[in-house]
Amino acid sequence: MSRTSKTAPSPLDDRAREVVDRLHAQNRHQFARSIIPLVREMVKAKFGTGNWDSTQTDSGKEMLADKMVALDPEKAALCHLLCRSLRARTVVEIGTSFGVSTIYLAAAVRDVAGEDATTGPPGLVIGTEHEPGKVEIAERNLADAGVDDHAEILAGDLLETLPPRLAALADQDRPVDFVLMDIWIPMALPALELLIP
Ligand SMILES: C[S@@+](CC[C@H](N)C(=O)[O-])C[C@H]1O[C@@H](n2cnc3c(N)ncnc32)[C@H](O)[C@@H]1O
Repeated sequence: MSRTSKTAPSPLDDRAREVVDRLHAQNRHQFARSIIPLVREMVKAKFGTGNWDSTQTDSGKEMLADKMVALDPEKAALCHLLCRSLRARTVVEIGTSFGVSTIYLAAAVRDVAGEDATTGPPGLVIGTEHEPGKVEIAERNLADAGVDDHAEILAGDLLETLPPRLAALADQDRPVDFVLMDIWIPMALPALELLIP
């Protein structure tokens, strides 16, 4: 194990860690450069719609279209360890972006399924992302990290892409073991309602 930050040891192998270390640094850099535009969009949203949520306004969506907004290393590592502890093989990720958290989750389900390949399905993370540019980047990052065999990304609005995929899992008697909910706030409840059944 080596350290991705001063406080959290990384649970990933060398290949995946190299990718996420680069992405975590990119995320920090992008966030630092985006604070002023983010605040500007929130103020515009407040004047235009009455609330601070800039994720649903046209200019806010445009500004966020290439932003990573990724989990930081400690939170992503916690998700990985929770999946390992739960022996999760089937994971749904609500909000994928550039695939940072997806890499941690896919490594976890790969390791769980690999430790006991005789029972249960192979490990799979089902990600969701509606920005086409982010889907492309996430797929590349998953391949670079060596976990693309254990992840698929549903491209498009998750309200449309997720129901048929969840129905297919149900047909296979394959329960969802873990959900990472990491989405713009107005989408969280609708996404949860899809998952509850
Ligand atoms: C907070 S980011 C996810 C970050 C990611 N979990 C990580 O740690 O790297 C939320 C993502 O959800 C995507 N998103 C927002 N609304 C969506 C929708 N209706 N369907 C699919 N993706 C959506 C956004 O484009 C954004 O990339």
